[in-house]
Amino acid sequence: MENLLSSASHETLPDSFVFPAEQRPPASSAAVELPVIDLSGPRDEVRRAVLEAGKELGFFQVVNHGVPEQAVRDMEACCEEFFRLPAEDKAAFYSEDTGKPNRLFTSTTYGTGGERYWRDCLRLACAFPVAADAKTNWPDKPDGLREATERFVAPTRALGMELLRLLCEGVGLPPDYFEGDLSAGDVVVNVNHYPPCPDPARTLGLPPHCDRNLITLLLQGSVAGLQVAYRGDWIRVQPLPGAFVVNFGHQLEIATNGLLKSVEHRAAANAAVARTSVATFIMPTDDCLVAPAAELLAGDLGGGARYRAVTFREFMRVYKTVGARRESVEKAFKI
Ligand code: OGA
Ligand code: NI
Repeated sequence: MENLLSSASHETLPDSFVFPAEQRPPASSAAVELPVIDLSGPRDEVRRAVLEAGKELGFFQVVNHGVPEQAVRDMEACCEEFFRLPAEDKAAFYSEDTGKPNRLFTSTTYGTGGERYWRDCLRLACAFPVAADAKTNWPDKPDGLREATERFVAPTRALGMELLRLLCEGVGLPPDYFEGDLSAGDVVVNVNHYPPCPDPARTLGLPPHCDRNLITLLLQGSVAGLQVAYRGDWIRVQPLPGAFVVNFGHQLEIATNGLLKSVEHRAAANAAVARTSVATFIMPTDDCLVAPAAELLAGDLGGGARYRAVTFREFMRVYKTVGARRESVEKAFKI
């Protein structure tokens, strides 16, 4: 595939990848380690830590998270290997049809003024519980990618559900509040691949955005690139290999009536080395009506609903037209 960024060498940055200066102010110089939460600790402490980090930064990392180390390593290795395959092996999976749940694509312009992301992306979707033939929807090369994905996605979803239970306990919702349609959509794994870039300061791997789903679990690998909005600045997140970076999507913000916020983030390109990250998204079903939880509107916590109820399908339709910036999504859904 000629047009895949990873299939060519790049001496100069094509103009189509140059973002307007206001979208790419440099990150603050210091790399910051996000709070690290050890999930093997006492449940009371873990619950408190998750809620605190979630409210303060909207981003945190978890270790001793229960996803087997081998499953994480195999997934990362197979994904990196996928992008090293010869172009003709990747071509079979390439598609520009955004309706296709499983596909390889590149250089998208979602939510931008036409500027292209410095990123190739392999999207793998999986209904839950995993069907016996789910694997056949995923690339058959490199060897082991299908099995690695299958072994990765189930425990990673389970981790996401456990974090949701902890958050429910923390904010005062029934622990199983997110068990039904709110989390029963496909689990989507986006394997983001950012090849070395000749002019990383003028482009972005992913522009500023909030995730549209319920909760995201990101393996950011060993190469830095993730940047998180914090008090008007962009902070560079220092990688902690083996840990999952956790953040909240718009649906969790709506469901908790804004108690837990979906925070803007972006991915920087870099000149030196390719970077591969694996983002797992837990989503509502398309027909699911997402609304602030009644439990959080009652009594002293009151003040009324701050978001209007919306089906996930309608949310996605609007999200695709207003763009990914937090401000525009808020304008569309906040009361
Ligand atoms: C994403 C995302 C960040 C990264 O896939 O939504 O924000 O570091 N990825 O790749
Ligand atoms: Ni994201």
